[in-house]
Amino acid sequence: MHPEVLIIGGGVIGLSIARELHKQGVRRITLLEKKACGQEASWAAAGMLSPQVEADEPGAFFDLCCTSRDFYPAFADELLEETGINVELDRTGTLYLAFNDKDVSEINRRFEWQENTGLAIEVISANEIRHREPSISQDVRKALFFQNDWQIENRKLTSALKRYAEINGVDIRENTQVERLVVENGRVVGAKTPESTITADLIVAATGAWTSLIKLGDVDMPLEVEPVRGQIIAFRSMHTLITHVICSSFGYLVPRLDGRLLAGSTTENVNFDKSVTETASVSLRKMACKLVPSIDDMEIADQWAGLRPFAADGLPVLGSVGGVEGLFIATAHYRNGILLAPLTAKLTADKLVNGTDSHYFARFRADRFYPRSVGIGS
Ligand code: FAD
Ligand code: GLY
Repeated sequence: MHPEVLIIGGGVIGLSIARELHKQGVRRITLLEKKACGQEASWAAAGMLSPQVEADEPGAFFDLCCTSRDFYPAFADELLEETGINVELDRTGTLYLAFNDKDVSEINRRFEWQENTGLAIEVISANEIRHREPSISQDVRKALFFQNDWQIENRKLTSALKRYAEINGVDIRENTQVERLVVENGRVVGAKTPESTITADLIVAATGAWTSLIKLGDVDMPLEVEPVRGQIIAFRSMHTLITHVICSSFGYLVPRLDGRLLAGSTTENVNFDKSVTETASVSLRKMACKLVPSIDDMEIADQWAGLRPFAADGLPVLGSVGGVEGLFIATAHYRNGILLAPLTAKLTADKLVNGTDSHYFARFRADRFYPRSVGIGS
């Protein structure tokens, strides 16, 4: 008999885990969401699936990102079949532009180590860039083309995942905030909300930037996850200005099928403040015009902010915490939670359903910052 699982958090991570648990045969799944599913970081994201363009070095995190990216074609196809929702996986690829000497040497460095891994990466001359993307600035000196760094419509992705959960009998309870996890004899046995305590065999905290606010028994969660605000502006274009995702050392552009052109993003430590600011809209517009000068004529149609979940080393947290049994944490995906959702879900469900450990749990364990046990009581 499969365990009864309680998932806290209805972002891309919690919803993906719910789907994967269901696919692996778990039938008693409850998901608690303090507001509405898919309205926080997972809504605010740019939807880039770009491990190669974002990675600074090879290693476990790069491997995690690339493996998750490789899940996406099947993930998108399956979701379409399961829910009727097209999550708009766009496989045009990503260009990384160099404007100055520093960018050129970064491009050369990245080309060298990534080419050695056998991944698709191509150096593009200034002339060739303008052939592929005629609107791009004449100031670009060189670029890298990442054929396998893609993008997805992240809002449609969370809608599809929620739809999957609804169709398949996951008990989704929105407007239900967990304040405390109930711990008895070193094991988590339930989650306390203002109305009641909900019990389960296993609990998954997929609570993004809010993870550290939940009490673990009588003590604070022994894990510091901080919110890092990111703002994006969107232009609306009647004609196609660019077809690739365009990245640079100072920002990125993401063209969407519905005609929006996203320009992101900021990285701000402002606690849980999700306001949008004039300063951000001015600097993001300037950045966008530097990449594609004709954007100068365009109006900003929308602007939003979200809170990325950030742990001290910028890497995800996957696994148990504080020596407490029955609790699995899946958070701190920081800039890559959309990208990492399918693999996070698979690793989590494999562990909860079959007890399968992954080498990633050792690398990304919660207590890499703390002693292994913190003496948690009920
Ligand atoms: P969230 O989506 O924030 O979901 C957590 C959920 O938990 C929330 O719905 C919240 O209400 C709920 N919750 C929290 N506490 C409780 C509680 N106590 N009780 C009940 N519910 C609770 N990633 C990429 O891969 N590609 C990108 O291009 C990209 N671009 C980004 C751009 C911006 C501007 C931002 C802000 C982020 C971007 N990200 C990107 C990062 C990505 O959005 C996040 O890493 C990802 O969404 C995290 O997912 P999550 O489910 O952990 O968090
Ligand atoms: N990964 C894009 C961002 O966090 O803005």
